[in-house]
Amino acid sequence: MHDQMTITDTPGTGLDWAALEAELDRSGVAVTPPILTPARCAELLALYDRDELFRSTVVMSRHAFGEGDYRYFADPLPGLVRDLREHLYPPLARIANRWAARLGEAAFPDDLAGLHERCAAAGQHRPTPLVLRYGPGGYNCLHQDVYGDVTFPLQVAFMLSAPDTDFTGGESVFVEQRPRQQSRPVVLRPGVGQGLIFPVRHRPVPGARGFRRVAMRHGVSEIRSGRRHVLGVVFHNAR
Ligand SMILES: [Fe+2]
Repeated sequence: MHDQMTITDTPGTGLDWAALEAELDRSGVAVTPPILTPARCAELLALYDRDELFRSTVVMSRHAFGEGDYRYFADPLPGLVRDLREHLYPPLARIANRWAARLGEAAFPDDLAGLHERCAAAGQHRPTPLVLRYGPGGYNCLHQDVYGDVTFPLQVAFMLSAPDTDFTGGESVFVEQRPRQQSRPVVLRPGVGQGLIFPVRHRPVPGARGFRRVAMRHGVSEIRSGRRHVLGVVFHNAR
């Protein structure tokens, strides 16, 4: 299924990681250029109805998470999802390790296999990449994505639908909870095939006495019309 890929021939290699890291450090969220072609996005989106590819489905309203549903891919992951996860990990790990050093936290392995060994030792065996689907009235409450003791601090969400064409509303919303200050919102509207890189839980922010751990939560504002699909790539596995 890997004919005519663009940057995803080796996803991540065509990206300006220095610029993405600078943007992450500045605002907490970085938007990539289109990494997936519209055809790739349509292919990924079409997987949603193939039950055999998924290990579990979450109907968000049942848990008061929001309105919409999402499905976690089962092992083995579809080739494109596996490739994205493997190829995006090493440059993200270099950023994560600079963050870890600033926060006095332990460093992460250089490759995804190393991270997954660490996950397995903590009882985290189940894959976490997922596809989320929202219809009119859909939304996702602000949250973080922690699935066990091993948490890789960055994740990537790929927009699979075209804003204004496939759906209206449905902005990507981020809120940074600054200690003893009011929270800072970030609202983004990535185009089809673009990725959003953002913290799973927190990031280092410079303060008067060195770097501080600042929590960030993410969610989705109400979809007004149409359908909005996103591929979420979280790097640690789940219990
Ligand atoms: Fe999430």
